[in-house]
Amino acid sequence: MTPEKLIELPRHLLSIGDLNHNQALLILDTAEELARISDAPIKKLPTLRGRTIVNLFFEDSTRTRISFEAAAKRLSADVINFSAKGSSVSKGESLKDTALTLQAMGADAVVLRHPESGAANRLAGWTNGVVINAGDGTHEHPTQALLDAFTIRRHLGSVGSDLEGKHIAIVGDVLHSRVARSNVLLLNLLGAKITLVAPPTLIPVGVESWPVNISYNIDEVLPEVDAVMMLRVQSERMKNSFFPSTREYSRLFGLNLDRMNLLPKGALILHPGPMNRGLEISAECADSVQSVILEQVANGVSVRMAVLYLLLGGNIGVGA
Ligand code: NCD
Repeated sequence: MTPEKLIELPRHLLSIGDLNHNQALLILDTAEELARISDAPIKKLPTLRGRTIVNLFFEDSTRTRISFEAAAKRLSADVINFSAKGSSVSKGESLKDTALTLQAMGADAVVLRHPESGAANRLAGWTNGVVINAGDGTHEHPTQALLDAFTIRRHLGSVGSDLEGKHIAIVGDVLHSRVARSNVLLLNLLGAKITLVAPPTLIPVGVESWPVNISYNIDEVLPEVDAVMMLRVQSERMKNSFFPSTREYSRLFGLNLDRMNLLPKGALILHPGPMNRGLEISAECADSVQSVILEQVANGVSVRMAVLYLLLGGNIGVGA
């Protein structure tokens, strides 16, 4: 019996909070097996032949949408890309109508990105298909956290293991970041120690209940971490000003060459993209040997293949 028969995943992937330790490891380990396909000359498995996956994107995206598309195609699914940005219908109604339309068309899974927190949960209540949250407002982005953990584990751990005892700093615009929220849940589930570093204005209210340490001083934290995850300054979600100037932000919280030298040897630099080069991260750091930013992109395809495979119940072994 293959492991996926023993450990059941939830029906949808809406939040990392819905996963337990074994389920998270199952996704990471399945992604490892599927990553081998991505290295093969013919990158395709027949696993999801005849299944239809809809990418429903109400917000801009480059890598997440393309990554889900590549993942679905490598599993031989049919993919429909629906970019709903700019719709003039009120968001709640248009989402429900769209969901019912997609269901009538026989979509087996919907990958949803939406500017409202909670949109994926609502969609899951309206459709029979599998819903995968590809980012809902400032709430969660579970597959990003899974690909981040996968990338960190490849360097600092091993297949089958978690991230027990590893120290990860998440730096920057935590307030607006669904990536940070999903990462805090997943890294904690996997046993890592987490430090959030940000100006006080970009730390969310209620953070005391999160399983994290807080620091306002990046220089004190960097020498102690195994990996540092830089977050994009999400100007499009900022209605007020959260720091005096971009120059000031960069000076106090940006990762630059001097700060990179504070990191222990072998510590990793991550960023979910898209990067504001020169703001939260300098070009030298983004392109340095310690940076695994492009690996994150490549690993995203394997992790999303694993999620689609496990949720849609592929009917042949991944090793076949
Ligand atoms: C993130 C997102 O959209 O939440 N990007 C991504 O999915 N690769 C982070 C961001 O936009 O800053």
